[in-house]
Amino acid sequence: MQRENFGSRFGAIMAMAGSAIGLGNMWRFPYLVGEYGGAAFIFIYILFSFLLSLPILYCEFIIGRRSQKNAFGAFKELAPGTKWKWVGALSVIAPVIITSYYCVIGGWSVEYFFRSCTFSFTSNSDGMDLTNMFGSFISSTWAPLFGHTLFLLLTAVVVGKGIKGGIEKFGKVMMPVLFIVVILIAVRSMTLSGASEGISYLFKPDFSKIDGKVCAAALGQSFFSLSLGCGTMLTYASYVSRKENIASSGASTAVADLCFAMIAGCAIMPAVFAFGLSPQSGPGLVFETLPLIFSQMPAGGIVAILFFLALLIAAVTSSISMFEVGVAYCVEERGMSRKWACVTIFMITWVLGILCSLSFGPLSDVKLFGNTIFNFFDKLSANYLMTIGSLLVVLFVGWKMKKADVEDEFTNGGTFPANRRLFKVLWLIIRWIAPLAILVIFLSNLIGL
Ligand code: PFF
Repeated sequence: MQRENFGSRFGAIMAMAGSAIGLGNMWRFPYLVGEYGGAAFIFIYILFSFLLSLPILYCEFIIGRRSQKNAFGAFKELAPGTKWKWVGALSVIAPVIITSYYCVIGGWSVEYFFRSCTFSFTSNSDGMDLTNMFGSFISSTWAPLFGHTLFLLLTAVVVGKGIKGGIEKFGKVMMPVLFIVVILIAVRSMTLSGASEGISYLFKPDFSKIDGKVCAAALGQSFFSLSLGCGTMLTYASYVSRKENIASSGASTAVADLCFAMIAGCAIMPAVFAFGLSPQSGPGLVFETLPLIFSQMPAGGIVAILFFLALLIAAVTSSISMFEVGVAYCVEERGMSRKWACVTIFMITWVLGILCSLSFGPLSDVKLFGNTIFNFFDKLSANYLMTIGSLLVVLFVGWKMKKADVEDEFTNGGTFPANRRLFKVLWLIIRWIAPLAILVIFLSNLIGL
């Protein structure tokens, strides 16, 4: 059977940007900026994004497009009969684990979108209520599970419709909407009186704040944000036409992701400062601090609807990309129909997601290596699976694949002269700089430097 491909360049980029842009940009990035001291963190983050993450993204593109296979099949195809297939296995398991907890937060976005539509964050709800609202919501049993199930169902339905008719179509419509909505919110936030302090927090770095922890967090966030090391970009790249220039598609994806993170930062931080609140409220920033702001901001009800709509769209386009990794594996390696593959991945991620969701309430005493189930999944994926996955991917391209094949794929058989020049630098990064840098940052964080 003919393998499906993305129908257009724009569609492919929207799908890939959709994977990259997600809760990582709107939920994780702002609170990490708050925790790690603002602009200095952003500076390191941008540096890593272009120096390390973009080359790794290229590695995933090269593996995916050259093999035209799912994440597991790709390693088997390019290195037949070797242990590299276990890297493929890791690339299929990682997104399943990430989807399981990611969809729980997706479910919270569903709930908060509904709540914003019923104007639950209005000026007469006093601050304490809004802060308690989040804690009591996530620790309850049924309401988060309802949102989680709905979110996962939406993901499965889009993936079930296939590459062109589902994933690409959804991305082509939703990503432009997402950008417009977040730009509108950023304009509102930056024009609040007292917003300027928030803007300096984002753009004026204090370099004395940079240490090993900031570097590790920035690297982890940059991998998370570009969906690296877990088969997602590899799988999407396998649907990209052989004629496409992957250097420019990769750069567009990375630039879109970075711009979106900055716009999301501009939507959130100025408002946080304008209302005299703390940017350091951690993961609760979006679900606790922002509703408080919306309740006091002029036209806050409308801004809340737009914000949670954006959060929802961003989260769905990302979870779709993770879901597709498992589905592609089931279809191509297990011979399932796309429909059954979707049902299978849905069931696995749904059950694991239920455990993650309940770990805020009834299962909060269940600990895995000292963490609740949710935190364990979160740490396991962001701190280990994605970093180790990314390291193995660069090692594969830099040391296992033939240089001539890598160059051939990156330059489309030498037809793009600019890519040929870029390849010289890229090869150096892939072979030496990226593996060493990842190793150093990973180990120094592990031993707590
Ligand atoms: N890049 C997504 C975000 O920033 O929210 C998260 C993500 C998507 C991680 C896909 C991993 C992945 F495979």
